[in-house]
Amino acid sequence: MSQLILGIESSCDETGVALVRAGEGGAVPVLLAHALHSQIDMHQAYGGVVPELASRDHIRRVLPLTREVLRESGERLEDVDVVAFTRGPGLAGALLVGAGVACALGAALDKPVLGVHHLEGHLLSPFLSSDPPEFPFVALLVSGGHTQLMRVEGVGRYEILGETIDDAAGEAFDKSAKLMGLGYPGGPALSRLAEQGNATAFKLPRPLLHSGDLDFSFAGLKTAVLTQAKKLGDELTARKADLAASTEAAIVEVLVKKTLAALQKTGLKRVVVAGGVGANRHLRAQLNAACAQAKVRVHYPELHLCTDNGAMIAMAAAMRLQAGQQQPNRDYAFDVKPRWPLDAITLAA
Ligand code: KG4
Ligand code: ZN
Repeated sequence: MSQLILGIESSCDETGVALVRAGEGGAVPVLLAHALHSQIDMHQAYGGVVPELASRDHIRRVLPLTREVLRESGERLEDVDVVAFTRGPGLAGALLVGAGVACALGAALDKPVLGVHHLEGHLLSPFLSSDPPEFPFVALLVSGGHTQLMRVEGVGRYEILGETIDDAAGEAFDKSAKLMGLGYPGGPALSRLAEQGNATAFKLPRPLLHSGDLDFSFAGLKTAVLTQAKKLGDELTARKADLAASTEAAIVEVLVKKTLAALQKTGLKRVVVAGGVGANRHLRAQLNAACAQAKVRVHYPELHLCTDNGAMIAMAAAMRLQAGQQQPNRDYAFDVKPRWPLDAITLAA
């Protein structure tokens, strides 16, 4: 019997709701509808996410978005079998909104709920594309707070091969953009400006590029960008595109080379890129070129599903249920996990 899964994402600055139908056997679950409200406009005035404003906005948006996906899919709320929500990691107050609404809906409908790991949502988001990957694969997970290379054997079978020891790649984009006065969210803004710049104009460090392991470090790069910006002084405005392009090139080169090293180490011939930075055009172009040469297949989530959304949460829930790895529950105790390492949900091999 197929199951209808409602997914709610509210971990940061996007409210996302989606409906996924999961069949029996190994068929990839199908996305029926998803709706998203981005809080970017609201937080822009503050140069970053204001947690309290984020929570309040999630409260305002989550039910209208739920109605929207029901309308769009033609499904009825009472036919939902499982209500899934992002349990963590993320902003505590923001997570509580999604968890609270999911548990209230579950209790009212007498249906079970299931808490999903946000990063597992990102990791499995390429399964929402028309060309889903097959297990096993190497995953490059590059979100705002995480940069990890993983060996993925199947749903719930994640081995971390390397990760950042300080800032995430998304953070490097965001912080560099901020100190160049590019506002929030920094990644897309810096990337847009970089298109008009010369990527070899400034010599910036490629941290840990030759470390021999698969770890990352981006804090030093941000400091180098700051030093360069200070050195430029009044000239910064005229050279901003060059600095943006040089920064992007440094981040992307490290991500691509380490990903290739992970492929070499594992012997795998398939890679999946997930998380917000996966939307970066330069990263996609460089990785595609490197992987074509190495005869490796690359899978991305669709561009609009790279950043946070409800579809990936409903999908991750559906895939976990299908794999028999998690049972939804009816205790409706919505304990969120603002800090929650992905290893914590990894099954023993
Ligand atoms: O996965 P995500 O939406 O949220 C988290 O779970 O953190 O990732 C957000 C991150 C931010 O750092 C944002 O600047 C970055 O992804 N990002 C980009 C691009 N689009 C989003 N970075 C570089 N280029 C982009 N096009
Ligand atoms: Zn995310």
